[in-house]
Amino acid sequence: MRRKLVAGNWKMNTDRGEAVELASALARHCEASGDVDVLIAPPFVWIEAVATAIDSSAVLLAAQNAWHEPSGAFTGEVSLEMLKEAGCGWVILGHSERRHLLEESDELIGEKVAAGLAEDLSVILCVGETRAQREAGETEAVLDRQLLAGLVGCEVESTSRLVVAYEPVWAIGTGLTASTDQAESAHAHLRNQLANRYNSEVAEATRFLYGGSVKPDNASELMRQPNVDGALVGGASLAVDSFVAIIEAAAGV
Ligand code: PGA
Repeated sequence: MRRKLVAGNWKMNTDRGEAVELASALARHCEASGDVDVLIAPPFVWIEAVATAIDSSAVLLAAQNAWHEPSGAFTGEVSLEMLKEAGCGWVILGHSERRHLLEESDELIGEKVAAGLAEDLSVILCVGETRAQREAGETEAVLDRQLLAGLVGCEVESTSRLVVAYEPVWAIGTGLTASTDQAESAHAHLRNQLANRYNSEVAEATRFLYGGSVKPDNASELMRQPNVDGALVGGASLAVDSFVAIIEAAAGV
């Protein structure tokens, strides 16, 4: 049985006070409900403050991105080691905003995933097709390419620290959600690809999150699908009430 994971990607939102308040409220909530893994990914600059706010709670802490080299002349970048030292146990890599706005390539994301796992971090690898790719019937080919390139340096021993998030680009921040059939079919396909890449045990044990306009009113239905093991939530993770409602939906399915 895979344990559900609800992850909040705050993106470039919150000021310091809001970040600490949101994190503290989640830490209090998670004392009461232990059935679901809860993770938050604040902006880099609030990571240490948030780490203090959730210290001694079960809330997991992720960075939204990282650079794969350990140190050096990479102006503006933050290394995986730095993030670990700041308190992160997790890192989100390959988010569609980084693929599309920052033009990160499949190869670069593969290097980052390998480096993150080598640094003993847990990694959420994001994959997802654009609307044009879906309409052209290319969804599965795009998912295969992004998944396999992302995992090029991921050895079987590291897969216990891997989570895959399926986030159709056309559903992110748009209010459009994939139907349960679209989400389930993409997840089942990805799980099958993971079995081909590694083996069926790895495929069965790995969690697949759905992301793209997850809200309290669609969360249960999505997470009730057999291959949907949780959610990667953007907008609705910025308010305690809506994020807690999604966590409760995960606990209830
Ligand atoms: P959204 O973002 O929930 O605001 O659509 C999801 C994500 O980008 O992770």
